[in-house]
Amino acid sequence: MKRTAIYPGTFDPFTNGHLDVLERALNIFDEVTVVIAENSQKNALFSIDERKAMIVEIISELKGVDVRVLSSGLLADYARQLGATAIIRGVRQVKDFEYEFQMSLLNRHLYPEVTTVFLMPNVKYTYVASSIIREVAMLGGDVSKFVHPCVMDMLDRKRTELHEHKS
Ligand code: PNS
Repeated sequence: MKRTAIYPGTFDPFTNGHLDVLERALNIFDEVTVVIAENSQKNALFSIDERKAMIVEIISELKGVDVRVLSSGLLADYARQLGATAIIRGVRQVKDFEYEFQMSLLNRHLYPEVTTVFLMPNVKYTYVASSIIREVAMLGGDVSKFVHPCVMDMLDRKRTELHEHKS
């Protein structure tokens, strides 16, 4: 039987840290579905379609991965629907853990057959978070070491759009 996992997140945008976690997950699972979901506590810079297009390009060379969008409803229900037995989450620092612990136990309550698997990205990505990438990029800083070139292009485009909008 195939081992299927989902890798959910806001991915606004997908970073090299996310890619590192995804590649580690693919060493454990036969199939991993990246699930782009909205986090009610976050305001997104990129639309769901933009995020999806970037991820599709980034994973084009990887085997056993696909990308889907959870536009409404619970992740636990979606995991059940896809027959996924694991939820992958990347953890970088101890401070990530409280929120992750809460989500993992709630998801288990909602769907007892699912197990959250926490993976640590390479230490060089410890301080890479989508939020800081967005902020630095919108202020004109170079984040090219932390994101795929297609994400870099989209960030540049977004910065130009935002500046044009302001002036
Ligand atoms: O990248 P993020 O923002 O840390 O990802 C959080 C995400 C999107 C995985 C979480 O907010 C989520 O699962 N949202 C879908 C709705 C849901 O099921 N919420 C309850 C989670 S216990």
